[in-house]
Amino acid sequence: MNYQYLRDKREWSSEEIVSLLASEGDTMQQLFDIASEVKFHYAGNKVYLRGLIEYSNICAKDCFYCGIRKSNQEVRRYVLSEEEVLNAARFAYEQNYASIVIQAGELESPSFTRKISQLVRKIKDFSNGELGITLSLGEQKKETFREWFELGAHRYLLRIESTNPILFSAIHPDTSLHRFDRRLQALSDLKEIGYQTGTGVMIGLPGQKIEDLASDIQFFLDFDIDMIGMGPYLEHEHTPMFAQRNELISMADRFELTLKMIAVCRIVLKDINIASATALQAIHPEGREHGIAAGANVIMPNITPDRAKANYYLYENKPMFKEGVQKHLIELNRRLVASGNEIAYGTWGDSLHFAQRLNSKRANND
Ligand code: 5AD
Repeated sequence: MNYQYLRDKREWSSEEIVSLLASEGDTMQQLFDIASEVKFHYAGNKVYLRGLIEYSNICAKDCFYCGIRKSNQEVRRYVLSEEEVLNAARFAYEQNYASIVIQAGELESPSFTRKISQLVRKIKDFSNGELGITLSLGEQKKETFREWFELGAHRYLLRIESTNPILFSAIHPDTSLHRFDRRLQALSDLKEIGYQTGTGVMIGLPGQKIEDLASDIQFFLDFDIDMIGMGPYLEHEHTPMFAQRNELISMADRFELTLKMIAVCRIVLKDINIASATALQAIHPEGREHGIAAGANVIMPNITPDRAKANYYLYENKPMFKEGVQKHLIELNRRLVASGNEIAYGTWGDSLHFAQRLNSKRANND
C-alpha cells in the first residue's frame, strides 16, 4: 500500500473503502501502520483522556442489544447523587484529565434535563470552566441540547449504531422511541447548535456486511463528523439479541474488524478524534492499546464510583478494575509510548477537525 497516496487522498468510493476494510494478514498490519502515520501527520501523537462518569442506568429505551434496556428486569437501577458526580469530576480535574464524559441511559423528562443542567453548571463552576464536558445522553429535544450547550457542555456523542436503516430497524423495537430519522435529526441539531459532534456504530452485528461498514464510514465523511466512538458488538445474556449469538462472527474477528474500522476511519477522515473503545478491552486485555496503534487518539478511563459501575453493564465482560485507575493509566502509558504515542494531560484535546470545520464555515460566510 502506498502511504503518501493514502495520506493525502480526500475522495473515496465505496469500493475503495471496502477494499481497505477487507485487508488481511500482512496487508492488515500495513493498514494499521499507515493509519498510525496518518494520525501522527494530521492529529499528532497525543492520546487524550475523557474521564467517563456513568451517571445512571435507568433507560426509557429498549434496544435489543443493550444490557441496560428498559425491559431487563435483572438490572439494579441507580442514579448517582450530585455529590458522587461532582466527586468523580473533581478527581478527573485533580488528575489533570482535562475532560469528562457524562453518560447515562436515555431519559427525556424535565427532571432529568434539570439535573444534568445543574451538574454541568456546577462542574464548570468548581473548575473555573477548565474541565471540558462531553455529554452522551441520547436523543433529546433541540432546546435541551441547546440548554446544556449554553451551560458549557461542548461535545456530544450519539452513536447512530448502524447507518443501514434495515439493520437499524433489526436491532431496535419498532416504536416511536426508536426511529432512525430521529437519530439523524438529533445529530443535525447537535451540529447546528455548535457541539463537537461524535457518532459511531457497533461492529459485528448479526447480518452486518463489510459494505455496511463502508457505508457507515461514507456517512461519517458526508456528515462531516468530528469524533467517533465505535466498538465491537458483544452479546449480553439478558437481551433479545442473545438469541442470535450463533450468527455472529467470532470474537477474534470482531476485534480485528473493529481495529480495521478504526484504521480506515483514520485514513479516510484524517483529523477527527477517534476513541479506542472500552469494548475492545472486553475482548483483549490490551485492546485499547491496539486501538491506539490502529489510529485512535482518545481513551475514556472509567471513573464511575465502584458502587454503581457493576450495574452499568451494557455487554458481557465489561472490564472493571479493582486497582486504582491512576496506576492503570501509568502502565497503559508505558505501553503506548512504545508505539510512539503519549497520554496528554491538562489539555482538552478537541477534535482538530472541528476547528477546521469552523474555519471553513467562516471563510464561506465572508
Ligand atoms: N455491545 C456493544 N456495544 C453496546 N452498546 C450497548 N450495548 C452494546 C453491546 N451489547 C453500546 C451502544 C451504545 C453505547 C452506550 O454502548 O453502541 O451507543
